[in-house]
Amino acid sequence: MVERTPETYAEKLAQLQELRHEAAHAEGPAVEKQHAKGKFTARERIDKLLDPGSFQELDGFVRHRTVDFEMAKTRPLADAVITGHGTIDGRRVCVFSQDFTVFGGSLGEVMGEKICKIMDLAARIGCPVIGINDSGGARIQEGVVSLGAYGEVFFRNVACSGVVPQISLVMGPCAGGAVYSPALTDFIFMVKETSHMFITGPDVIKTVTGEEVGFEELGGAMTHNTRSGVAHFATEDEEHCLEDARYLLSFLPQNNLESPPRLASSDDPLRMDPELDSVVPDNANKPYDVRAVIRLIVDDGEFLEVHEHYARNIVCGFARLDGIAIGVVGNQPAALAGVLDIDAAAKAARFVRTCDSFNIPIVTFTDVPGFLPGTAQEWGGIIRHGAKLLYAYAEATVPKINVITRKAYGGAYDVMSSKHLRSDFNFAWPTAEVAVMGPEGAANIIYRRELAGHDAPAERRQALMDDYKARFANPYIAAERGYIDDVIIPHETRPKLIAALHALATKREPGPKRKHGNIPL
Ligand code: HXC
Repeated sequence: MVERTPETYAEKLAQLQELRHEAAHAEGPAVEKQHAKGKFTARERIDKLLDPGSFQELDGFVRHRTVDFEMAKTRPLADAVITGHGTIDGRRVCVFSQDFTVFGGSLGEVMGEKICKIMDLAARIGCPVIGINDSGGARIQEGVVSLGAYGEVFFRNVACSGVVPQISLVMGPCAGGAVYSPALTDFIFMVKETSHMFITGPDVIKTVTGEEVGFEELGGAMTHNTRSGVAHFATEDEEHCLEDARYLLSFLPQNNLESPPRLASSDDPLRMDPELDSVVPDNANKPYDVRAVIRLIVDDGEFLEVHEHYARNIVCGFARLDGIAIGVVGNQPAALAGVLDIDAAAKAARFVRTCDSFNIPIVTFTDVPGFLPGTAQEWGGIIRHGAKLLYAYAEATVPKINVITRKAYGGAYDVMSSKHLRSDFNFAWPTAEVAVMGPEGAANIIYRRELAGHDAPAERRQALMDDYKARFANPYIAAERGYIDDVIIPHETRPKLIAALHALATKREPGPKRKHGNIPL
C-alpha cells in the first residue's frame, strides 16, 4: 500500500502502477504452490481462455471489509476473484476466476458482490458467463455473510438460466454448498486429478458414516463424469479444459434471443456417404456405434460429445449441418443395446432442454429396444425419470428432426422425438422397425396358446416371428399413417437433414400461456 498521498501526476501514475502490480497477485509462495500442483493462477487462466489482449478487468480495486481476525491485517486488492469481460473467437463473454492464492479462493461478502456484478452485466448485455471455480468455499471468518453471498450468486445462476449460457470450469476444490453454483449452470468441466466437487469431504464422511474414501474417488473429475453425471466434461489438464470451453462456446448463441453462429462449411451439403448403407447389421441384435453414424453425416465428421462417459447408452452432443449448429441425441446400440434407463433419460432430457433454451435444433437418431426392465429401475423411479425425456421433447419448440435407423419399440418410440410429440420431420431408414415390441416378445405373448399346443414350437415360433416382422417390424405402417414423413436411403440422410433444417429456419411455435410447466423432477 502507498504510504502517503501522491501529489504530482508522475507520483499518481506510479501509485496506480504499484496498485496494479499488487493486484496481479502474480508471485509469492501461494502462487508457487499453485503451480506446483499443475494449476494455473486465476489470471493465467483468464489469459488462456480469452482472445489475447481482450480481457477488461473490473473491480480490481475491491478489498474485503472484514474487521475481525487476522484477516483484517491483509486486504489484498481484487480480493479472491478476478472478474471482467473479454472475447472468445471475437464474441463477448463475462468471466470470473476464483483466486486460490488469496484466502484459498474462499468466498466472502465482496467476492460475492464481484461475481454477482459480472453476472448482472452478462444478463444485461446478453453474453455467456464463464465461472472458473477454485475455492475453499464459504470464507469462514465472514460467517453467515459468506452464506448470504453464495445465496446471491445462486439466485443469479437461476435468473440467468435459459437466458445466457453459463459454463463452469472446476479447476480446484469446490466443496459444501458452493457446488450448487456450478450445478445450476449449463455445463461443468472438471480437470482430472486437480479438481474436486463434494458436499461433505472425506473427513466428515468418515466421522458420520465410517466410510473411508479419498478426494479423487469421492469427487474427482471421472467420478462426476461417470458415476454421478454432475460434470459434463473431463479434461487431462487445465490447458485442455480452457481450450475445450472455447470450442463448446462455438456451438452456443450469445443468449436466448439469438441463434448460434453459423460457420462457413467446406463439407458439401449434398454429400452422400455410401458407408451409411451398411452401418445397420442384418442381425437386429448386433450392435453398431451410433457415433460413427453421426460422424458420417455431420459437417467434416466433427462431433463434440457432452456427458461422454455417463449413461453411454444414449449419446448427446453438438455438431453442424451446412454450418448450422445442431444438438444430436442418439440411442447407442453399442452400450446396453441402446436401452433407455434412468440415467439415459435424465441425461438426454437435460440436453434437449439446453438445446431448446438456446435455439439449437435437435436431430435425434432412434434405435431403441425400449426401457430397461428390472426392480432397480422401477424402484429407482424410471417412470418419473423416463417422463423427463418425454416432457423435454414435447416441450421443446426448436426444430426437431428424427431419423429412425432401426428399432423404435413401445413407449420408447413415443419418447424419442416422435411425431406425436410434435417433431417436425421424422424420417426412417428401410431398416426401421416401428412396433409395440420386438418379434420375440410379441410372438411369446400373442401366440402363447398356439405355441403351447404345437408339436414343433421352435419352428412355429420362428415362422410366427417372421410373419410378425413382415407385418409390423418395418417403417411402412407408420409411414402409411404419416407418423413417418419419409423413408429414406441411409446415404441420403445428410442432404435430407440439411433440407429439413433450412425449411425449419423460420419455425414459430408459440407455447401455451402459463407460468411454467411442472416437469417431473
Ligand atoms: C477461509 C480458507 C478457507 C475458507 C481455505 N482457506 N479454505 N480461508 N475460509 N473456507 C485458506 C487456508 O486457511 C489457507 O490460508 C489457504 O486458504 C490455503 O488453504 P490450504 O488448506 O493451505 O490449501 P490446501 O492444502 O490446498 O487445501 C485446500 C482445501 C482446504 C481442501 C480447500 O483449505 C480446506 O479443506 N478448506 C476448508 C474447506 C471447507 O470446509 N470450506 C467450507 C465448505 S462449506 P493460509 O493463510 O494458511 O495460506 C461451504 C458452504 C457454502 O463452503 C455454502 C453455500 C450455501
